[in-house]
Amino acid sequence: MNSSASPASRASSDRPRVFSGIQPSGAIHLGNYLGAVKNWVELQDDHDAVYCVVDLHALTLPKEAGEVSRGTIEIGRILLAAGLDPERCVFFVQSHVPAHAELGWLMQTMASFGELSRMTAFKDKSDRGGFVSSSLFSYPALQAADILLYDTDIVPVGDDQRQHIELSRDVATRFNSRYGETFVVPEHQIPSAGARIMDLQAPDTKMSKSLESPGTIGLLDPPKTIEKKIKRAVTDNDGEVRFDPDTKPGVSNLLDILAAASGGDPTDLAEKYTQYGPLKADVADAVMSFFEPIQQRHAALSDDDVIDALRLGADKAAAIADPVLARAYDAVGLLPRSR
Ligand code: TRP
Repeated sequence: MNSSASPASRASSDRPRVFSGIQPSGAIHLGNYLGAVKNWVELQDDHDAVYCVVDLHALTLPKEAGEVSRGTIEIGRILLAAGLDPERCVFFVQSHVPAHAELGWLMQTMASFGELSRMTAFKDKSDRGGFVSSSLFSYPALQAADILLYDTDIVPVGDDQRQHIELSRDVATRFNSRYGETFVVPEHQIPSAGARIMDLQAPDTKMSKSLESPGTIGLLDPPKTIEKKIKRAVTDNDGEVRFDPDTKPGVSNLLDILAAASGGDPTDLAEKYTQYGPLKADVADAVMSFFEPIQQRHAALSDDDVIDALRLGADKAAAIADPVLARAYDAVGLLPRSR
């Protein structure tokens, strides 16, 4: 028998384990920051936090050589600048820990074709045309492996990931009932504040990835650009500051941003304003006060700083993941290479 601990052994740790992943594609905008990154930073205080740059997932859509490594360094730099602390969390790159690809295969054997066919993310991405790889189809099995390798209690990701987390739970439960208790069945937790920041120019759609869009605020946008984009944000003609996402999506989005950035409740915050101008000025100030220190740290970090931090993270991640993979192989009943 191998010495891998049972999933129950983590119950002795007093801090719940959170795991989340981010793709190394595109840059970070205000919506990603308020909806995910800020939450990740805060979770380090009272959780056992594991964060992964999912570069293998990025390959599910065709990439140029070099594109993924550049994206990985850049997202690493941004997240470190935003406050991920390699001393207080495990922050690493998926491909640096081979257990992900290995358990990913096992998870493909546990997920059914029917289940994977129902994933709306797959339907959306494959409908866009172009090369549809089989990995795009089995993407959620690799995601399940990411999560299950760390005996994860909580997965803090947006509502768009609901189906993927549900699949991870189903696959973990199926594995446990077929082969005996092996995996912790994770819970999905949707970050509440700022979970849905909308596009400043089209407040009925989520803030989009394209940083060129005047409705998207990039984490690295210069202060002047941030100010200009917020000043030009779409509002409406009735002139009243009120939180009502259905009839006043533009104004409500600004209040949501302010609430997420400075704390407080968007309905209460609305009462402090009678005009759109001062509201926009305060939103711009709140966003810049968040982003300025991040931008300064970002400018000070070298590629080597990022690579060193990620190397340390991969060592820590493998120390957790390898015994869990061994536990899973053992449960399935693969012949051990040595006894
Ligand atoms: N699918 C996630 C996304 O597109 C990224 C991801 C991969 C992830 N593995 C994960 C998120 C594990 C949470 C947990 O955003």
